[in-house]
Amino acid sequence: MDRTGTKKTYRKKGSMRIDIISCVPQLLESPLNYSIVKRAKDKGLVSVFIHDLRDYATGKHKKTDDYSYGGGAGMVMMIEPVYKIIKKLTRQRKYDEVIYLSPDGELFDQPMANRMSLMKNIILLCGHYKGIDQRIREHLITKEISIGNYVLSGGEIAAAAITDTLVRLIPGALSDETSALTDSFQNSLLSPPIYTRPADFKGWRVPDILLSGDHDKIAQWLDEQAVQRTRKLRPDLL
Ligand code: ADE
Repeated sequence: MDRTGTKKTYRKKGSMRIDIISCVPQLLESPLNYSIVKRAKDKGLVSVFIHDLRDYATGKHKKTDDYSYGGGAGMVMMIEPVYKIIKKLTRQRKYDEVIYLSPDGELFDQPMANRMSLMKNIILLCGHYKGIDQRIREHLITKEISIGNYVLSGGEIAAAAITDTLVRLIPGALSDETSALTDSFQNSLLSPPIYTRPADFKGWRVPDILLSGDHDKIAQWLDEQAVQRTRKLRPDLL
């Protein structure tokens, strides 16, 4: 166990599958097709499928939203297209969670990410408009997650943030396998400061200790810096 109460376990062999359902799939294109997520997909560590909700809508206009019963501002995501895609996916395989991204949900943090990174299959449903038909939440969703106490225009940015956070935890996704464990928050501490060349830029010098070559002293200094930075910037974590 670490200080966050998270058991340090690692994924069993086998890649992770993330299905993201969205009515604006274009919003997900670039965050999930570059850098670490792309490399992890190319290495077969994760598969990310993006489903366009409009493909499951009926009628000439392929509507995925409608007015809310009882009035009130804003359109509501309709139940039928969501039902169709979720049923199609869950008939094909078992999902650990069917997640709705919403500001009402449980706050996403590193311990939750660590737990979720051990899952095999998850569905992320991105909301849009004013919200989704309550029956979807009651009958099809197993968990609701929020990425912060603010309201986004839709769940896509939250889905991209969660996917990115999970993927970097899959062993092999990062070039140095241990580096996800030294991320900020992994032990409730922020990361210590890091530097690269040049050692002296216009008189702004890299701390001498880092140039000393004394690895024990450097490790001790980095630990101290992590605690000091956390105390200063995020005392709530301590
Ligand atoms: N959709 C809108 N706001 C959100 C938030 N804060 N977290 C997750 N999904 C959202």
